[in-house]
Formats: sequence, structure tokens, C-alpha cells
Amino acid sequence: MKGYSSPPFLSLFLLLLLLSPLASVVALLRAPPRLPAFYAEKLIRQLNLFPGEPVNIAAESGRFVDVPRIVERRFKFPTWSILVTLRMFYFFFESRNSTEDPVVIWLTGGPGCSSEMALFYENGPFTIANNLSLVWNEYGWDKVSNILYVDQPIGTGFSFSSDRRDIRHNEKGVSDDLYDFLQAFFKEHPHLAKNDFYITGESYAGHYIPALAARVHQGNKAKEGIHVNLKGFAIGNGLTDPAIQYGAYADYAMDMGIITQTEHDRINKALPLCESAIKLCGTDGTISCMAAYFVCNTIFTAIVARAGDVNYYDIRKKCEGNMCYDFSNLEKFLNEQPVRDALGVGDVQFVSCSSTVYQAMLMDWMRNLEVGIPALLEDGIKLLVYAGEYDLICNWLGNSRWVHAMEWSGQKEFVAASEVPFKVDGSEAGLLTSHGPLSFLKVHDAGHMVPMDQPKASLEMLKRWMHSSLSRQAPLDSESLISSM
Ligand SMILES: *[C@@H]1O[C@H](CO)[C@@H](O)[C@H](O)[C@H]1NC(C)=O
Ligand SMILES: *[C@@H]1O[C@H](CO)[C@@H](O)[C@H](O)[C@H]1NC(C)=O
Repeated sequence: MKGYSSPPFLSLFLLLLLLSPLASVVALLRAPPRLPAFYAEKLIRQLNLFPGEPVNIAAESGRFVDVPRIVERRFKFPTWSILVTLRMFYFFFESRNSTEDPVVIWLTGGPGCSSEMALFYENGPFTIANNLSLVWNEYGWDKVSNILYVDQPIGTGFSFSSDRRDIRHNEKGVSDDLYDFLQAFFKEHPHLAKNDFYITGESYAGHYIPALAARVHQGNKAKEGIHVNLKGFAIGNGLTDPAIQYGAYADYAMDMGIITQTEHDRINKALPLCESAIKLCGTDGTISCMAAYFVCNTIFTAIVARAGDVNYYDIRKKCEGNMCYDFSNLEKFLNEQPVRDALGVGDVQFVSCSSTVYQAMLMDWMRNLEVGIPALLEDGIKLLVYAGEYDLICNWLGNSRWVHAMEWSGQKEFVAASEVPFKVDGSEAGLLTSHGPLSFLKVHDAGHMVPMDQPKASLEMLKRWMHSSLSRQAPLDSESLISSM
């Protein structure tokens, strides 16, 4: 945040403000230093979360100096063995089917939200009941994979550091940490290193996922460490190519009837400025990226202001008061003493979503992460982009547009490919476009959190995608793993 109040930024920011045709949102921008904090707090409250600390920085610096790189505990929770580690904290669940199944890593977005949000509310082996006991999730992704949920970037969830310099500001920092984590994990569990490996996640992880995929691929090519058998990466309702995705907001909102044509046209007057700011930001800008964050978010803010109390993760729903979802049981459960003792987290706080990490990543927000993807596709690494159709914030339209606009050797065929129904149990659960290693899936009846809204379809999606049978017709029910387990 050093460059934040520096004169060049401020003057660029003011210049952009003066140029901004969106007078109605200028008021929101009057106090720029507080705005990111406001967005971060709002995000956290909307999930009904109240982390005790803004970030996990341990007080004493010497505390974990002599511990090995990776500290794990195996325990029953309630009947399944799990491994956890400190510093980069993670849950690991062995596949309920076979340890030979692929290893999958899940990354929650935010930026700054714990991956345990997905573990307990989306695709983990259990959900938290209201009495805080754990209930099996029939459609947990551990039914077809050995799955890791990592708290990252450092400072979120139970991951912590004693050094503030470990707070990350960009995808280089994030992907290097994750790469180091994977190396340590596979060193400790060499029998899993030969399994296929997939990177998955959601929302802001639309930045993390392509960055990590590129980092792993680069490490493999350079024979840097243990070979990680990367086969594919999947982005769910992600933010990957901001220029295209911010351009789709008003179109999506109008298509869905939450703003009028007049409002659409007025709001999009900010678009040329937003697009040029994003262009300046590119893949590695700094101050221009900050300016782009402020300017472009006027578009989103204006839409939300028009739309009233609509839940922008699922426009079919309303936010009650400040609350759009109630994930408070996550904090209650992970702060129970017996749970904390079992996890061995000592006095480390559980930071469900970190406002500090959110703000530290602001310069990363508008960077284009699409640019590294074509090289991965050319090397045969699969990409699945999927999106629940009722999400506004990372809507399917913006995602579909960048996936179609992406230049790679199969682009023509991909663009020409016809949409086919993605069927689960004989009914259409989504619409699929695919060619070669690239697939795009629009998921019906789902918002931002697809595995929460469509658990069965999302498990089928993961399974068929990993088995490269996403575009094949649905298996007969008798052959389906889901109904046989
Ligand atoms: C807690 O709730 C779950 C799910 O509703 C239920 O199956 C379980 O029996 C309850 N446990 C206790 C101790 O009440
Ligand atoms: C379950 O495990 C077996 C044995 O490794 C494997 O052949 C099969 O493909 C797995 N099923 C699924 C759906 O992943």
C-alpha cells in the first residue's frame, strides 16, 4: 500500500476522476483511502463473518523457527483422517473412492477468504449442521479426488506469518508460495505425486488458478523440484480478464432485467475510461492498476445501487440487512476449543476473510491473468471455465466472452463449436461448449457458488472433466459413480 498516497498516483487518480462521466458515483470515491477497506468489510459482513483480526500475523517471531517446513497432524474428524499444517494451513482429505484418484487443490477467492468456506459450504466431505456437528456431504469432491483446501494468501484462515513482509501483493508472490507448498506436500507424500493433479477454485481464484498453473508448468519444465503431474485447471465464476469482464457487467444486468436500457447506457459511459485504465495496468502495472480498480468499480457499484438489495452473488435472492449469506457457523465451529485442539492451531486466530489481505491485493485486481493461459492449452493442459448463471459479480457472460476471445491454436474451432446440453440424471444441468483442452460450462440454477447451489451437478462436472468425458453424453445411471456409492 506504499504507493497508495504517493503524489503520482493521487494526481492520476484525480485526473481520472475529473474525466469520469459518472458524476453520481464520484461521491463514493471522495475518500479513496477508505474505499478498499469499505469494500473488504462489506464483503465480509455480507457473509455474516466477524473475524477477530484483520490478518493473521503472529506476535513472536521465533516461535516456529525450528519446526520442519511442513507440520502435519493426522486425526479423525469425525471418522476420516485429515492432515493439517501450520503456516500454510490446509485440510487434506483422501478420496473416498481410491488414493489413486487425482489430487485436486481448491482455492477460495476474496481475495483473503479462507478455503474452509468452500470445504464446509460447497464441496467438502462435510457440512456444518446448526448444532455445529458435521454432516456428510453426499456430493463432496473427495468422492472422486484427493482434495486439498489451502488457506492462502498467507494471513487468511489459519495460515499466518510472523513477518508482515509475507503479505502478498501480486500473483507472483501467491503462486510462488503455493508452488513451495505443493513441493513440501509432495515431498511428504511421494505416493501422491504420481497422481494426476488439478487446480480448482472460485471467484478471485480466477487470478490465482492460472497463475499457479503457469508456475507449476514452469517448475516442471525447468525440472525445479518434484514433478507435479498437472493435467488441468478449472475456474468457477472467476475474475480472470477484467477488461472483458467489467465490460459485461451492464450487459448482463440489463439482460437479467435488474437495470433498464437507459441505466445501462449511462453506467457504461464509464467503460472507455475503465478499459483504458485496465490497458495501462496490463499484466504488471502498479499505480495504473489501482486507478483502474477505483474507476472500474464505479460500474459495478452503480449497478448494485440501481438493483437495490439484490444479492449480487445470486440475483434471484435478496440480501437481508447487510447479510447475503450466513456462514457464521464456520467461525463458531473452527473457534470451538475441542476443534482448535484437534487441529493443533494453538493460539492462531481463524481469520475467515482478511481485510488486510484483500487490500494488499488491490494492485493485482485489474491485472489480466488470461495472458498465460494459451501457452498452457498449447501444451495440452486442460482448462474448464464454469459459471453459475445467476451470479452478477463474476457473471457467466463476461466469462464466456473472455474464453471465446482468447487467442490460441484452437480458437476458431472453439468459437464454431455448438453448445451442447450438460445432462445430469437425464435433465439439462448446464450448457457446454468445448474444443480440445478448453471447455466452458454455463451452469443452470446456480449463483456464484456452484457446488453449494448444484452439488450433484458440480461433482458430475468435476468427475467427467477429469476423465475427459465432459462433452460425452451422460453415463447411464447404473454406471454412474454417484448412484453407485
Ligand atoms: C445435530 O444435527 C444433525 C443434523 O440436523 C443431526 O443429524 C444430529 O443428530 C444432531 N446432533 C445432536 C447431538 O443433536
Ligand atoms: C475409483 O477408483 C478406481 C480405482 O483407482 C478408478 O479406476 C475409478 O476411475 C475411480 N472412480 C472415479 C469415479 O473416480
